[in-house]
Amino acid sequence: MARIRNAFFALLCLTLQMINVKCVRYQPTWASLDARPIPSWYDEAKLGIFIHWGVFSVPSFSSEWFWWNWKGQATPAVIDFMTKNYKPDFTYADFAKEFNAEFFNPAQWTEAFEDSGAKYIVFVSKHHEGYTNWPSKYSFSWNSVDVGPNRDIVGELMNATRAKKSLRFGLYHSMYEWFHPLYLADKKTGFKTQDFVNKKTLPELYEIVNKYKPEVVWSDGDWEANDTYWRSKEYLAWLYNDSPVKDTVVVNDRWGKGISCNHGGVFTCGDRYNPGVLQKHKWVNAMTIDKYSWGFRRNAKLEDYLSIEELLQTFVITVSCGGNMLMNVGPPSHGHIAPIYAERLHQMGAWLKVNGEGIYSSKPWTFQNDTLTPGVWYTMKKNSSGAGVTVYAFTFDWPGSGTLSLAVPQASPSTVVTLLGFSGNLNYTTHKPKGIDIRVPVIPINKMPWVYAGSKQRTVGKKW
Ligand SMILES: *[C@@H]1O[C@H](CO)[C@@H](O)[C@H](O)[C@H]1NC(C)=O
Ligand SMILES: *[C@@H]1O[C@H](CO)[C@@H](O)[C@H](O)[C@H]1NC(C)=O
Ligand SMILES: *[C@@H]1O[C@H](CO)[C@@H](O)[C@H](O)[C@H]1NC(C)=O
Ligand SMILES: *[C@@H]1O[C@H](CO)[C@@H](O)[C@H](O)[C@H]1NC(C)=O
Ligand SMILES: *[C@@H]1O[C@H](CO)[C@@H](O)[C@H](O)[C@H]1NC(C)=O
Repeated sequence: MARIRNAFFALLCLTLQMINVKCVRYQPTWASLDARPIPSWYDEAKLGIFIHWGVFSVPSFSSEWFWWNWKGQATPAVIDFMTKNYKPDFTYADFAKEFNAEFFNPAQWTEAFEDSGAKYIVFVSKHHEGYTNWPSKYSFSWNSVDVGPNRDIVGELMNATRAKKSLRFGLYHSMYEWFHPLYLADKKTGFKTQDFVNKKTLPELYEIVNKYKPEVVWSDGDWEANDTYWRSKEYLAWLYNDSPVKDTVVVNDRWGKGISCNHGGVFTCGDRYNPGVLQKHKWVNAMTIDKYSWGFRRNAKLEDYLSIEELLQTFVITVSCGGNMLMNVGPPSHGHIAPIYAERLHQMGAWLKVNGEGIYSSKPWTFQNDTLTPGVWYTMKKNSSGAGVTVYAFTFDWPGSGTLSLAVPQASPSTVVTLLGFSGNLNYTTHKPKGIDIRVPVIPINKMPWVYAGSKQRTVGKKW
């Protein structure tokens, strides 16, 4: 029977290939799964928005690791906070009753995300605390419909995201849960038993994909047990072969101890990974606007938030080296995005409106940064005609001398240098054998555009 089925399948495959339909069955092995090309939309998108929201947003102190910092590896600041402000019998679960989401308006969120120039979002469906932001069949009474907002947060956000043509919807999901009894029992056996995976992790992973069809499945919380324990390879084979998002889904690399940075889809390696050199494999810099936390912190100081200049520099270096940036927003438990986050989102979008040409769908160039002028980073695009390339140079400092000297671009008589957001060409002189001096426009300091850049066929960029 199996043989007949296989033969039939092979025949079907052949027929499909003749009419140019891709026909690959991925096997539950890393060799097979790693061979799947990452869907092209992802590399073109460059910027995504990460959103951390859950019961941890209620205490909104310390970080999204609040529960662990209280009851796991206890930290004095959190113990102190609980002793001073809560009755002794108060439990972490009690916080969920105060997760009201009273100002949560998903359309306002997606408006702000679209305005940032991001092309996709990755929303935390469940963090290590185990609370699901959707009415999961596998998280009885510890989900956003049974306690807290009484709303299907994931479903509402999915609808609002799909209403925006420019945004794709993705979900983060934590494999482990710090204090889940089944997880702790499996851990006790040295992960010889798999009750937690079979009854919780996997059913949830299938549920969110079948129900909400996320085009990013971002796994996390994998590091204590190996991929055999988590049954990750079997899940990924299903995701790539038979799931409703098989053709467009992008996954990360957190699928078991030792897997990150080695197998899976896009490599995340560590949090805030930004190697500053070209990477062989598609990667992502998952980072936060609040330097110290993914979840909202009520006691964050102004200087804890990255400035727009810092965000843009991180972004440009990331894209030059072949990465995407996944920039995190932590909304307060009431659900209205705080103005400091809203401002950063808007600033990213304002910059991208002028400079997005050198970012979206760009590729890393031969050189990532200039060898002469520090703080100059490059991207490139092949002209659609196939004739020539456009090199984009982004500079972090507006040259006070009025001349931007670049060592690596090689200008030819047909080279045209322009500045994004500035009409007309820029004058330049060339060096032998390589290099170019570009006269940048004299702009009064109070009229400085935020952005600029440089090139072989063209030169672009903008001051910030
Ligand atoms: C999402 O939209 C669909 C279609 O309009 C609707 O049936 C569904 O109830 C919405 N989901 C949520 C959680 O609002
Ligand atoms: C993975 O962990 C299991 C225990 O859950 C163990 O039996 C197995 O040998 C491990 N596999 C690898 C490849 O390390
Ligand atoms: C930029 O390029 C030079 C090589 O010219 C290299 O030495 C340097 O480390 C690179 N990175 C940064 C962050 O400047
Ligand atoms: C390359 O593309 C740019 C931008 O689209 C265009 O201005 C330029 O003329 C093109 N150059 C060539 C050689 O096709
Ligand atoms: C380029 O040089 C010409 C001749 O000196 C000058 O008129 C023009 O303003 C310059 N253009 C720019 C953009 O600086």
